[in-house]
Amino acid sequence: MAERKNARISIDRDIEVSPVDERIFSSFIEHLGRAVYEGIYQPGSRFADEDGLRTDTIDLIKELKVPYVRYPGGNFVSGFKWEDSIGPADKRPHRIDPAWGVVETNEFGLHEYMNWTKKAGVKPMYTINLGTRGVEEAKDLIEYTNIRSGSYLSDLRRKNGAEDPFDIKLWCLGNEMDGPWQMGHKTAYEYGRIAHEAGRMLKFVDPTVECVACGSSNSSMPTFGEWERIMLEESYDTTDYVSLHTYYGNRDDNTPDFLASSVDMDNFIRSVIATCDYVKTIKRTNKTINLSFDEWNVWYHSNEADKKLEKWIQHPHQLEDIYNFEDALLVGSMLITLLRHADRVKIACLAQLVNVIAPIMTSDTGAWRQTIFYPYMHASTMGRGTVLNTAVKVDTYESKYGDAPYIDAVAVDDEENGNLTLFAVNKDLKDDYSIDMDVRQFEGYEVTEHILLTGDDLKAVNTEEHPDTVAPVLCKNSKIEDGRLVSLLPARSWNVIRLSRKA
Ligand code: AHR
Repeated sequence: MAERKNARISIDRDIEVSPVDERIFSSFIEHLGRAVYEGIYQPGSRFADEDGLRTDTIDLIKELKVPYVRYPGGNFVSGFKWEDSIGPADKRPHRIDPAWGVVETNEFGLHEYMNWTKKAGVKPMYTINLGTRGVEEAKDLIEYTNIRSGSYLSDLRRKNGAEDPFDIKLWCLGNEMDGPWQMGHKTAYEYGRIAHEAGRMLKFVDPTVECVACGSSNSSMPTFGEWERIMLEESYDTTDYVSLHTYYGNRDDNTPDFLASSVDMDNFIRSVIATCDYVKTIKRTNKTINLSFDEWNVWYHSNEADKKLEKWIQHPHQLEDIYNFEDALLVGSMLITLLRHADRVKIACLAQLVNVIAPIMTSDTGAWRQTIFYPYMHASTMGRGTVLNTAVKVDTYESKYGDAPYIDAVAVDDEENGNLTLFAVNKDLKDDYSIDMDVRQFEGYEVTEHILLTGDDLKAVNTEEHPDTVAPVLCKNSKIEDGRLVSLLPARSWNVIRLSRKA
């Protein structure tokens, strides 16, 4: 029999974690599978504009209010020559991409990406190849993108149709260079050296850029910790952010363990902060390195299908995870975890954005929202403001990551617009929770909405034929009583509770 349990949430308007950096809601498009081709670019499609860009996915990306999109990889970038992706599209070389076992036509390249960012209302975050290439590429690329004119490569950009510089300000120094699967895989020392020199080169040319150095590909890497220490010892002066990547999957069909993965993510963040601060200490510097969690998501549904893919074909259906309801719950908890660390996590990218492990799927006949679209959209559109230190007093359960709380929650105070938003996941598969939060500091505020994503079927999915099987609804589960917010969080639920200043 289901019971109702209780939890207490405490906030204090003066005890802030940090203002939210909007870049925490960023995403990622790699030249992989149908992310670019058929995802954001499909000339001839009935959804394509005059540049071949899919307007239906642009509309959904705007709904998500995505601030930055990392590009062009991912593993792909470690064998990529950016020069292949400029100039007349029909003259660009077709190349093999050994990372994903496919052929890349380069039909969509740097100029097309920059044009797309403008139309999609996002900013660029560009990754350079530090696998098979290095410092010289960094120099050439930033001359091409950020110098106005008067040099060979800046004039080549103008000749190729872009009079104004692209002015890319956020650069990733390679991708997952700690991973033995990576083309041009390096030791921490080798990587630290090349990242430092490539970053220095970018900053020689444009001192206003910021650089993200590769941290570990996940917290289970045998080199985790030492990798960050060693590479930061070599690159501290040029590095602004250290990257973290992680993907989770419910491979053993153990939902409580799966939902506890946010505990692992939280530990991962704490460990990387500690390592950055250790290097800060031994460097005797005032500079603090922040975190860029530039790949995170659920990824496992497509693993078996991908093993059977034919090699060296163009943009196959690859990494096309179809997300279910429980995935949306974990994505909600991961967003809460990122927000709770808003003082140090300044950038984060849901990996990825369209078709490839993505919130948005496309076919020739349309585009639709996967289950994970909803928590991402809610956090991105309503999670801007200042994160308040949010203490949650609730029962825990044992999981493979240690004790996991049944409720994950975080409150964001958007004082300017008069909104207080509480994001909360109830991971209890059986029982509802009644939560109670003192909101007397928010005098004059009223509950304006409680958005709920819940359901009985943890494995329910959205498809093109049935796009709304898993979709949020508005409910009346929240009220303010004697200065306290009292809400009912149903078992297995993602909740967005919004209080707004009365007009
Ligand atoms: O996002 C899919 C892949 O996951 C990326 O290419 C790589 O960086 C990571 O291993």
